[in-house]
Amino acid sequence: LISSPDVREWIQEQLFDEVPVAICVIDREFNIVRSNRRFEEMYGETAGRPCYEVYKGRSGPCVNCGALRTFEDGQMRRREERGQQDADRPRWYVVDDVPIVAPDGSIPYVVEMSTDISHVKELEQQKLEAERLAAVGQTVAGLAHGIKNIIMGLEGGMYVVNSGLQRNDTDRLLTGWKMLQEEITRISSFAKEFLDFAKGRQPHVEVIDPNDVARQVTELFLDRGRASGIELVADLDEGIQPAAFERDGLHLCLTNLVSNAIDACEMSERRGTHVIIRSLEEDGEITFEVLDDGCGMDYDVKRKVFTNFFSTKASGKGTGLGLLATRKVVQQHGGSVWFDSVEGRGSVFRLEFPRSRLPEPVAVDQEEQGSGELPEKEATHGESPG
Ligand SMILES: Nc1ncnc2c1ncn2[C@@H]1O[C@H](COP(=O)(O)OP(=O)(O)OP(=O)(O)O)[C@@H](O)[C@H]1O
Ligand SMILES: [Mg+2]
Repeated sequence: LISSPDVREWIQEQLFDEVPVAICVIDREFNIVRSNRRFEEMYGETAGRPCYEVYKGRSGPCVNCGALRTFEDGQMRRREERGQQDADRPRWYVVDDVPIVAPDGSIPYVVEMSTDISHVKELEQQKLEAERLAAVGQTVAGLAHGIKNIIMGLEGGMYVVNSGLQRNDTDRLLTGWKMLQEEITRISSFAKEFLDFAKGRQPHVEVIDPNDVARQVTELFLDRGRASGIELVADLDEGIQPAAFERDGLHLCLTNLVSNAIDACEMSERRGTHVIIRSLEEDGEITFEVLDDGCGMDYDVKRKVFTNFFSTKASGKGTGLGLLATRKVVQQHGGSVWFDSVEGRGSVFRLEFPRSRLPEPVAVDQEEQGSGELPEKEATHGESPG
């Protein structure tokens, strides 16, 4: 069928225009030499204009240009980009850079194909929301359990106060009153934490140096590690540019991972001695890794680590919420958590944050556009060459 002249002609002449993907071909000066119908519907007449001007209204090439790297190494690359033609309903695209290789091996052109994945993104959001609601359900059960414990404490305090009143014993009264105060403080902070969790509180995002947080967390645990004979090392990629994070959120994630890693070293029969906290930025993705040579996890533990209240630690030491809270914060930043572990050998937890999915910083107006490393407000889509 393919060899039928009609079909071949259709493929050559029409497919380029008919596919539901915006395509443009750019030369080594980043000028658009061809584009398909879909592309023209989005950007109008663009022939001969540089892509950075078309995509982002820039006068020069962009930082971190994907097409430039494809011209250099001949590799296909794929990235996600947020388009901002319509601020109320952001569109998302998968952008592929594909080299056109000449017979002599040179690369005169790169084809950029942008596929609209906004509907997939919407489903992803809905799924996140559903997961959050399910987690809230589980948390309610945990909350009821927690409240029950506190009520027992309150009843104990009441009993002591009553008996103090009956015996006119001021010391006993004070003891009971202190017990009551402690339990009231506990229940109020319990309720606050729960409300934050249930509301899916919007993170306060600002442009920060992500390594700063990693350094703070390292400082925090250095002594505790040393006391257990564990060497805590920070191996940070100094090339990471400022990025939009909720400082406290990132701090919480790394604190959880590092404290788990130290616990794992302490729990290991042959005693783990190394914890490494590592950062890296590559291909538009910021990652943090925490590695340990501690006890590791067996299959069953690995399956349950993200379950509410799952903990292998002594009661009073682990509540089993650390990783769940970590994952929640990471997801709020558009990222994901990955881990691997070998029983008796150690574990690695990795937080992956694609830059294009990091949230918008809140105070961008006051901060005069932040560091310039963030996606530009007026940008349409595509990280245009530069
Ligand atoms: N680096 C690690 N090495 C081995 N096991 C780990 C590691 N990190 C997590 N785990 C396992 O996953 C479980 C859940 O971890 P999580 O941080 O959620 O809770 P926790 O540390 O037990 O309690 P907390 O709520 O205080 O953090 C741990 O109890 C432990 O069994
Ligand atoms: Mg923990």
